[in-house]
Order: sequence, then C-alpha cells, then structure tokens
Amino acid sequence: MTGYASMDTLQLQQELSALMQVYEDYQKMKLALNMARGRPDKEQMDLAQGLLSCLTPEDMILADGSDVRNYGFLEGIPEARQLIADLMGHTPAEVLICGSSSLNIMYDVIAHAFTHGIDGCTPWAKLDNVKFLCPVPGYDRHFGISEHFGCEMIAIPMNAEGPDMDLVEQYVNNDPSVKGLWSIPKYSNPSGITYSDEVVRRFAQLKPAAKDFRIFWDNAYIIHDLYDHHDVLLNLLEECKKYGSEDMVYELMSTSKVSFAGAGIAAIASSESNIKKLAKQFGVQTIGWNKVNMLSHVKFFKNKDGVLEHMKKHAALLRPKFAAVLDILNAEVSDIATWHNPNGGYFISFNAMEGCAKRIVQLCKEAGVVLTGAGATYPYGKDPQDKNIRIAPTSVTIDELKQAATLFCLCVKIATVEKMLEK
Ligand SMILES: Cc1ncc(COP(=O)(O)O)c(C=O)c1O
Repeated sequence: MTGYASMDTLQLQQELSALMQVYEDYQKMKLALNMARGRPDKEQMDLAQGLLSCLTPEDMILADGSDVRNYGFLEGIPEARQLIADLMGHTPAEVLICGSSSLNIMYDVIAHAFTHGIDGCTPWAKLDNVKFLCPVPGYDRHFGISEHFGCEMIAIPMNAEGPDMDLVEQYVNNDPSVKGLWSIPKYSNPSGITYSDEVVRRFAQLKPAAKDFRIFWDNAYIIHDLYDHHDVLLNLLEECKKYGSEDMVYELMSTSKVSFAGAGIAAIASSESNIKKLAKQFGVQTIGWNKVNMLSHVKFFKNKDGVLEHMKKHAALLRPKFAAVLDILNAEVSDIATWHNPNGGYFISFNAMEGCAKRIVQLCKEAGVVLTGAGATYPYGKDPQDKNIRIAPTSVTIDELKQAATLFCLCVKIATVEKMLEK
C-alpha cells in the first residue's frame, strides 16, 4: 500500500525523490531481466523430452496398416485427431490437425479468405473494408495478422465476463463488413479471465450480417490450469449446434505450451462440413503435415488423462512464479493499480493509473527489466488510456521474478507519483 491518495503535494514530492534514490541504486545493479516472454520455461519443456525418443520402428505402422512416415492423412492421423478431439470436447471429425502452430493456421485461413473467399462469398481482398472485432486487452499477434491484411480493427472492451457482448452483437448482427472476431476464451491473453457461460451462449446466438463472418476462438490455454479449482469454459461448438450456427466458429489450439513451443501439434476445430472444406483447402498447400510428430505426441501422452497429468506438472512449476509476482504486487501497489489473479494461462494483466503504462515500461527498461511494450495489447499498438501492461512470469526464475517484480512496483510508484504531481 502506498497511501498516495491522502498525500499533499509536498509529501508526494518527497516521496518521489526517495523513490528515485532507490531507483538509481537499481540502475547501478545492471540487471538484465525479462518479463515480456509468454513462453514455457526450460524445465517445463524438459518434462516432454521423452517425446523425442519414444517411437520405435514397430510404431511406424498405424492401426489401419498405413506407414506414418509416408504421405497421407491430410486431416491428421486418427489417433491424434482422437486425442485432440478429447481435449477440446469435440468429435474427431470436427478436428483437423495441421502443422505445429495454431497462429499459422489462423494466418492461413485468413489469407485464404482474402484470396478465395469463404463458402463461395466474395474474397475479402475484393471488398472495400474488412473489419475485425478485437476484444481488448488482447493478443498482439492476432492484431498483427489483421493489420497485415489491412483489416480495420475495432476494439471491444473486455469486462470480468468476457467481451462486451452488447457491442459484439451490435456490430456482428448489423454490419456485413465485420468478418472476424478474435477471442481467447479461456485464461485470456493477457487478462487471464475465462468467458462466462452467458457470454459463450450469446456468442452461439449471434446472427451475423455477413455469411462469411467467423469467430476465431483461440483456445490456446484450454488445459493450462494453475490450480485444481480451475475455470470451466462452456463448449462453444456444442452451444452453436443448438442454434445451427456451428459454421461460424473456428476453434484453435496447440500443444505449444504442453510439449514444445512451435514444435508441438496444432489443430483447428469447427463443424464437420467446415472441416471437410478446410481439409480440401489445406490440400492445395501440403500433401500432409508432420504425422511422425503427431504419433510421438499420442505415444508419449497416451490419452486425455495423460495430457492432463502432464499439465499438472507444468502447473506445479508455474504456480510459485505467479504467486511470487502477485504477492509483491499485493504488498506494494494494491491501492494504485488493478489486476486479475488468473487461475491459469500465461499472463497477469496489470492496469496502472491512466497515462502511466508507457512511463512504467520505459523506467523498467532503463533499469534492466524488459516488459511487453505498453500498448501492445491493443490494435495498432495504441492503448487509448495508456494503462495496460502484460506481465509474463513463466520463463524467469523465481529469484529473478522477485527482483523484477519489486523493481516493477518501484517504477509503478514513480510513474504514479509523477502523474499525480502533474495534476
Ligand atoms: C492466445 C495465443 N494464441 C496463439 C499463440 C501461439 O500459438 P502457436 O504456438 O500454436 O502458434 C499464443 C502464444 O503465446 C497465444 O498466446
């Protein structure tokens, strides 16, 4: 607690000079810490090392007699489709395994929509305006894809339940140029919240003005619980089936933060009819994805329970890291900032006093702690209130995290006092 709210100008000035002295001492320490990377740490990836050596020559022949080392199975080998379908709560026919990066799938699907169109609709490249709804704060790489293709990005505020659904409905149901919506429904990047049942139901009941509108339901943190009392997300595809709207959903996931980042297996789930169309479309760009990698995932993890047991080991490594940061935030800056204590995922989304985020990131950088750029969690890299900072505690040691979080709080205090003195 800072008690800044009750300080007068003189007290704030004295506080600032005391804080600056401590800050200068930190600068002399020449720290080199990084809380910007939303990556798994080495010890998490070590847990899956056996995946690289688990296959034997006998494993090469699949149950149906085909050789996994050869071309074929464009939709993914049945064993992997079953595993991922079980994790996602779908049937294998609703799941396509392709490659090792879900971001890559999203990019390809959007590129195809631009060049060839979706479901016989006009290719997006031929339209004057293509709009994407972007719940904020959100994932910078989603926004990067929309920006790359020249889409207009419309920020949709997130609340504790998910995106502002009144606004989503207003846009999607009335504006035919709204073609896509980014969403990270479980342990959202970066806010850490999980969409409520009510929000998921409202998604399922959307009546898009554009036939080729798609929800990019990026379930990147679908099984990334930190605690036994984890969040539970309603199954959007199942909800959609009640309204015949399942073609509207592209759900994504990968094992980037289960096995190896960028070298796991990635999947897209949708209606069976969409999956057939996607398989045909991907069939132009490849004769088959890396099925050997799919098989090693199946052999190593065995089944859904095997994956969930594995994720418990990840959680045991990650819990103390999140706790280290949250304890320090709570002790130091709870009266001048807000954040959500996530039950899973990879981030803590920190909201400073308005107009302070850039200054905090700059102060941290000049004292040797790298944070994700202020604004990165907003379309075009512009946070209109300049207050959101994404903290990534996963790939730093606990001792380093404690040091980085303490310095971060010091910078939050400095930027806050400076801002208060401006008023
Ligand atoms: C929400 C979200 N989606 C996708 C990705 C990238 O996934 P992949 O490695 O499968 O491309 C990340 C990585 O941080 C992410 O946070």
